[in-house]
Amino acid sequence: MKQDVLILAIESSCDETAAAVVKNGRTVLSNVISSQIALHTLYGGVVPEIASRSHIEKINQVIAEALKQAGVSLSGIDAVGVTYGPGLVGALLVGVAEAKAIAYAAKLPLIGVHHIEGHVSANYIENQELEPPFLCLVVSGGHTHLVKVTEYGAYEIVGRTHDDAAGEAYDKVARAIGLGYPGGPKIDQLAKEGDPSAILFPRAHIEGAPFDFSFSGVKSAVLNYLNSYKMKGEEVNRADVAASFQQSVVDVLTERTIAAAAEFRFERVAIAGGVASNSALRESMRLACKANGLKFYHPSPIFCTDNAAMIGTAAYYEYCKGVRSGLDLNAVPNLKIGQR
Ligand code: KG4
Ligand code: ZN
Repeated sequence: MKQDVLILAIESSCDETAAAVVKNGRTVLSNVISSQIALHTLYGGVVPEIASRSHIEKINQVIAEALKQAGVSLSGIDAVGVTYGPGLVGALLVGVAEAKAIAYAAKLPLIGVHHIEGHVSANYIENQELEPPFLCLVVSGGHTHLVKVTEYGAYEIVGRTHDDAAGEAYDKVARAIGLGYPGGPKIDQLAKEGDPSAILFPRAHIEGAPFDFSFSGVKSAVLNYLNSYKMKGEEVNRADVAASFQQSVVDVLTERTIAAAAEFRFERVAIAGGVASNSALRESMRLACKANGLKFYHPSPIFCTDNAAMIGTAAYYEYCKGVRSGLDLNAVPNLKIGQR
């Protein structure tokens, strides 16, 4: 009889200190996340040095809690998975050093995981029937990619942003309309009270690159719109700005994903990353996939934003393929998808 494989996973690439225990890649036994939002809110964004220090303070208790909630000790764990890039170098280093220490002390295999491959793998957690091949739209604070998942752990990028990531555009626009950090969820909320067709913000197309994105135009258009009102001394309707900006981003993300699914003949489409928890994007993708006969998958919001369960899932499929990292594993802040 096949033995269960339990992975202890650690994630510390940005502003969440997270640890999880995942069984056989698909069953989350625990998923502990210690958010630093309160610490960074004061500065309007993530301060790398503060993030690293806070990871150091929290990581041991977060891991202890993940093991406790899962009801296992290190002797019941089969491997340690850890995000080693991309992300903030000082933040990544905390998780990597911790994972190496645990792997060494407990004589466990170590598996370095790509953060974005973790985001994609979050889709396996609640969709037990989902298997590659599928197309995944990855939308986070630092990435906007259309990725072909050809088999477990095999990725090919077919579309990418030329400037801002979708989450970055959300965060910058949120700051401009005075919503603060983190902006994405706040725009999502405020947009519910606004009219998405009130203002026509641009939807950028990139010549010769039908599956690529650009969000700097829409961001500038929003800033210009806000400025013009300020100069006139008039109040803007912030809810309409939020809703109209969001509609522009969601339209482009949906349209390009559906076009790529048709071009590459995918039957299954997934979304991943922090922006994948956006209610308007989820609804738009759901409707568009339905209209085009595509099966649509998405993680619950808690598995869209940074967490360690997704890292445990990605690590499990690497583990099954025999991938192991050495104790010389290092943080790679600009790690590319598919790179080892
Ligand atoms: O994946 P993630 O947690 O961290 C990165 O790997 O970057 O993504 C964070 C991004 C931030 O830009 C945040 O504003 C955005 O995801 N985000 C959202 C929502 N929740 C988080 N954007 C739009 N709507 C949301 N509900
Ligand atoms: Zn992330």
